[in-house]
Amino acid sequence: MVTGIARQNVFAEKCEEVHTALDPTTRENLVTAMHGEAFAYVKYMLFAEQARKNGNKKLADLFEKTADVERFEHFAEEAHLLGLVRGDIENLADAIKGESYEIETMYVEFARKAKLAGDLAAAARFEEIRHDEIGHRAAFVAELSKFPA
Ligand SMILES: [Fe+2]
Ligand SMILES: [Fe+2]
Repeated sequence: MVTGIARQNVFAEKCEEVHTALDPTTRENLVTAMHGEAFAYVKYMLFAEQARKNGNKKLADLFEKTADVERFEHFAEEAHLLGLVRGDIENLADAIKGESYEIETMYVEFARKAKLAGDLAAAARFEEIRHDEIGHRAAFVAELSKFPA
């Protein structure tokens, strides 16, 4: 019987097979496309919220319906090709890496540049978000430590 972590590992191996078979440019393009699809999903959800506030129910529904396709079809299909979702341990390691990049590089640089440019509200927001990311990373690190080494 294949259960729990064993099943996750089988799934991770299958995803890895798909992942490693990809041409590097195809892989890069998948990542770029997924960023676009994820951005479109959230943007359309915000547009839907606005349309609903304005009483434009049909427009809100259109934005939400389109957002669902971006998220549950386009992003999900590309993520599958890329082998994005793996076992819980690999997923936690990936998440920690992403949060670390935001904490140590991205938001540090963004806050510094915004401050230099005189965009103080943006600088303060980047710094505040960076602190949220520190909390996210800590939570992921704590979860990862619960798995047997
Ligand atoms: Fe799309
Ligand atoms: Fe985060």
